[in-house]
Amino acid sequence: MKRLAVVLFAVAVAVAVAVLVTPSVLADAAPDGAAIYKAKCAVCHGADGKGQTTMGKNLKIKDLGAEEVQKIKNEELNKIITDGKGKMPAYKDKLDQAQIDAVIAHIRSFAPKKK
Ligand code: HEC
Repeated sequence: MKRLAVVLFAVAVAVAVAVLVTPSVLADAAPDGAAIYKAKCAVCHGADGKGQTTMGKNLKIKDLGAEEVQKIKNEELNKIITDGKGKMPAYKDKLDQAQIDAVIAHIRSFAPKKK
């Protein structure tokens, strides 16, 4: 019977370790820019980046895919997202640099496809 107790204990420890380790493994994976955008930005900017949301229309948000936004350099986009701009909230306390980079990459996907 003692053996069984040892085996059960070992299994319990293995499960506990797996549970504790898994989230940190996920956190280390490259952030998913599309998912972050959908969770944090789409309320205002719209899932397609065009800003055709109630918030977007009220705030007169530009189409993120428009040339005037797409021509903004990454460093500048980084600053807008980090520090905010006008009614646009600052994300420095909510997203880390890797997440902001991933979101910028996602904004680039709104650019009109070159034929
Ligand atoms: C509460 C609504 C709101 C949310 C949420 C929001 N934004 Fe904005 N965003 C704005 C507004 C309003 C502007 C226009 C700011 C200005 O020019 O005064 C803006 C501007 C921008 C711009 C610059 C484009 C321009 O119009 O000059 C970028 C890039 C941007 N947002 C990215 C994001 C990203 C990425 C997120 C999510 C991490 C996000 N925004 C979340 C409201 C929002």
